[in-house]
Amino acid sequence: MNTDETFQSSDSHAQSYTRTAVAMHWLLGMALVGMFAVGYYMEDLPLSPAKLQLFNWHKWAGICLLTLSVLRLLWRITHRPPPLPADIQNDMPAWQHHAHYLTQYSMYGLFFLVPLVGWAYSSAAGFPVVVFGVLPLPDFVPANEALAELLKAWHEGTAMALAILILLHVAAAIKHQWVDKHALLQRMWPRR
Ligand code: HEM
Ligand code: HEM
Repeated sequence: MNTDETFQSSDSHAQSYTRTAVAMHWLLGMALVGMFAVGYYMEDLPLSPAKLQLFNWHKWAGICLLTLSVLRLLWRITHRPPPLPADIQNDMPAWQHHAHYLTQYSMYGLFFLVPLVGWAYSSAAGFPVVVFGVLPLPDFVPANEALAELLKAWHEGTAMALAILILLHVAAAIKHQWVDKHALLQRMWPRR
């Protein structure tokens, strides 16, 4: 669906993502980096009230990210990104073209899978999620020690897969911008 915001009216904006998409890209990007940092840090702490508090904050922030990712996906579905500029399309071999979209779609999948598996892991471990200590979320898996071990490994594995995709994505963005001199970053850059 093309709306006014999808293809911005002035020429310089015609090839840009909408302001909302740009804001969500950088906001959720920074939030994800924070989630990784806290996730890896808290895991190795000795058991203490501070560790349990960090676990709670990680879980609550993860649920907020999951909610924002739903809004982001809805925005993306209703505001299709502009097509890649013709010069970039011509320069890119077919595999890079596929890799570009495969990375984006896989990241979107993991934006949901990582927190959902984290939520399921909490329930399986017998610690239901109560967002900000006031909003209890339903358990969609039973409390079960073996299942908890499995889901813990999945949360770790899916988070690692997302981290790898993000690194690939950033490396590709840097290469396009500064090696190939493609003006791709300005499509995703905040503007007035
Ligand atoms: C945690 C970090 C990041 C995540 C999770 C992320 C994720 C995404 C996703 C999902 C898209 C697809 C558009 C959308 O629906 O939002 C995208 C596009 C884009 N990202 Fe990132 N990104 C991250 C960091 C970065 C960084 C650091 C850069 C620059 C160095 C960057 C540059 C871009 C560019 C230029 C596009 C637009 C590509 C195009 O024109 O089609 N991203 N990013
Ligand atoms: C996009 C969101 C999320 C990201 C990127 C993320 C990332 C991580 C990472 C990197 C770790 C450390 C993994 C390890 O080496 O074991 C971790 C641990 C953990 N995460 Fe998440 N997480 C997210 C959402 C959630 C959610 C929504 C929950 C639960 C509601 C959750 C619950 C946990 C728990 C309980 C641990 C500790 C595992 C343990 O050591 O027992 N996470 N997370």
